[in-house]
Amino acid sequence: MVQIAVLGYGTVGSGVVYLLDKNRDIISKRINDEIQVKYILTRREYNKDKYASKIIMNIDKIVEDKDIKIVAEVIGGVTDAYEYTKKLLKAGKNVVTANKELVATKGTELFKLARENNVKYLFEASVGGGIPIIHPMIQCLVSNKIDKIVGIMNGTTNYILTKMLKDNLSFEEALKNAQKLGYAESNPAADVEGIDTCRKISILSSLAYGRNVNPDLINVKGIDKITLEDVKVAENKGYVVKLVGYSKRVGEEKAEIIVTPCAIKKNHPLANVDDVYNAILVSGNATGEVMFYGKGAGQFPTASAVCSDIIECLDNKTNVEFVWSDEKIEIETPKLKCLDNINIPIID
Ligand code: HSE
Repeated sequence: MVQIAVLGYGTVGSGVVYLLDKNRDIISKRINDEIQVKYILTRREYNKDKYASKIIMNIDKIVEDKDIKIVAEVIGGVTDAYEYTKKLLKAGKNVVTANKELVATKGTELFKLARENNVKYLFEASVGGGIPIIHPMIQCLVSNKIDKIVGIMNGTTNYILTKMLKDNLSFEEALKNAQKLGYAESNPAADVEGIDTCRKISILSSLAYGRNVNPDLINVKGIDKITLEDVKVAENKGYVVKLVGYSKRVGEEKAEIIVTPCAIKKNHPLANVDDVYNAILVSGNATGEVMFYGKGAGQFPTASAVCSDIIECLDNKTNVEFVWSDEKIEIETPKLKCLDNINIPIID
């Protein structure tokens, strides 16, 4: 029996607990063991919840419990999540996370801490929700030099832009729907202002270039100023508007990175990625362009990635060393040509 703890019981946390239960048989068969959620750390009681008996409010109970070897952190943010993750890694627990903010801003320190304590810090769920992207980049594409990453990495904004274009919904109406469906962050500013995409392109760029790409140095523009008219003007010119994270290697110590709404030609592979779907194009010097596509947000797609990381922690073998160093990389804003009449850059 493998006992684990889940920190956070919001959309993703409850998805993780539910998924481990729902797919218990299939998972047990595959790992030849059973995973049991011993603790769920929350800030409040859930008396009527099916898993109420597992709920605790003190992290130290988990830190001190020798039976807990793996912890899923799905609290989000960089305050409690950061402190708890450090405590847990120092106590020799493997930690898996969906927390892109924490990985993007404190990743280097947490990977080091994990290494020093001989445990794993895994983050497949931090980019692309249910889409496998972190593991493919560090395993299947490991023999490539990655030169470019372009992707739609935020489900909420892609859902909003799709609804604006196809259903003529206002920005506010479409955002409300996205929140109801559980796609948006608790503070939707992180989605609509491009901050969430910035954290994700920072993580993928750090993996690609092996150096710490500081999200604070990336030029970011969200979709909060995009009007229905912009979307329609672009459409009439043969383009769709998408919020894109763009990163291109320029030599060994420099990269051009930006987050911005872009005009994408209708026949481009990213143009028909709609609703909550994400797609990420990665260019390797051996593979050429490969595209990863799937649901980039939502309870179960994200829980799927968290659970696969939990299972990976059961494997003691050392992975290819895939995390990035704290060496800096110079970040520039690419000079992209804009679509006539509207100030939206074109992505070829
Ligand atoms: N709010 C994020 C999104 C969740 O909409 O993509 C997944 O990171």
